[in-house]
Amino acid sequence: MHNYAKPMLRDGALQGKTILLTGGGSGLGKSMARYFLELGAKVCIASRSFERLQQAADELSAATGGEVLPLACDVRDYAAVEGLLQQVLDKFGSVDVLVNNAAGNFISPTERLSNRAFDTVVDIVLKGSYNCTLALGKHWIANNQPAAVLSIVTTYAWTGSGYVVPSACAKAGVLAMTRSLAVEWAKYGIRFHAIAPGPFPTEGAWSRLIPPGMEDQFDLTKRVPLRRAGDHQELANLAAYLVSDFGTYLNGEVVTIDGGEWLQGAGEFSALDAVPQSMWDQIQSQMKKQAKS
Ligand code: HXC
Ligand code: NAP
Repeated sequence: MHNYAKPMLRDGALQGKTILLTGGGSGLGKSMARYFLELGAKVCIASRSFERLQQAADELSAATGGEVLPLACDVRDYAAVEGLLQQVLDKFGSVDVLVNNAAGNFISPTERLSNRAFDTVVDIVLKGSYNCTLALGKHWIANNQPAAVLSIVTTYAWTGSGYVVPSACAKAGVLAMTRSLAVEWAKYGIRFHAIAPGPFPTEGAWSRLIPPGMEDQFDLTKRVPLRRAGDHQELANLAAYLVSDFGTYLNGEVVTIDGGEWLQGAGEFSALDAVPQSMWDQIQSQMKKQAKS
């Protein structure tokens, strides 16, 4: 096992914390939930499909011995989010951390989208994140309780990206919320973090973002300078650090974990990677001559 696929924090680093994580029944959310439990946190995983959550909760508690509470909730519905919070409080007594991880996404030329399709993605990602943040924020402020909010965004939150425009708009909004509230709610002891992952293979993302039959052409890892996808434990390590007491002086930061992917896309001359090493002697001597003439 590579070191990057190993747990990073010391045992018990999240002991005493209760974490509410949206979308924890699959993918990266499930991987984060697993590591939070291993580190001693109590975790509520919440999404629409109770069956999937229950299965994940059984698996995670068997694997970690931790306390995990699966609760069905559609984050688009503010009343449902308030109900979710109440159930977490009833079970665990308090909640210290919110992880806005739930998302919806699919690829499409924007002109082919119905307004309902656009709404669907924006509502899950942006409305879902602000619903949860608002409900928990009001609770924390009323109870004078310090807390942390971690939102999972993407690198196209700031670059934008064609073909996933609703997701780009929504993730940009989540990043703006993160930076805005990092300042406004710091006086209440509530800090905000964001992680912008590059490609981390998950069934949920891959099945919706890679055109069937074109897996090789759209192999996302080929766009990464480090030439590999992210390992789920690497993201879980970062998330656990940010929400732990060790991450308390970070506030309003977005941490990119993408092997250099977005910077490669942005670099004017990144395509020169295609020039074979053996050609550089010839190219450079020719160019030096040209520069002198
Ligand atoms: C065009 C689509 C569509 C598609 C749905 N719609 N899928 N339009 N292309 N592929 C349209 C529908 O026709 C409908 O509009 C509207 O969107 C709502 O569709 P529903 O199926 O009713 O929505 P719902 O049941 O709420 O499901 C939401 C969903 C679904 C987003 C469509 O895929 C989902 O549940 N996703 C959750 C998980 C997920 O998406 N994970 C990936 C995250 S990856 P009309 O007009 O017909 O009514 C990610 C990573 C990014 O964010 C970065 C990677 C590197
Ligand atoms: P995923 O497995 O599809 O996770 C998305 C989760 O969101 C699902 O568990 C889903 O559960 C939940 N969800 C969707 N709509 C919901 C709603 N209305 N209410 C409550 N929960 C809802 O995909 P993933 O790849 O792990 O993505 C996790 C996060 O990482 C997302 O924020 C995504 O944007 C981000 N991300 C992923 C990558 C990557 O490479 N994988 C890259 C950049 C960013 P239900 O279906 O049960 O509701």
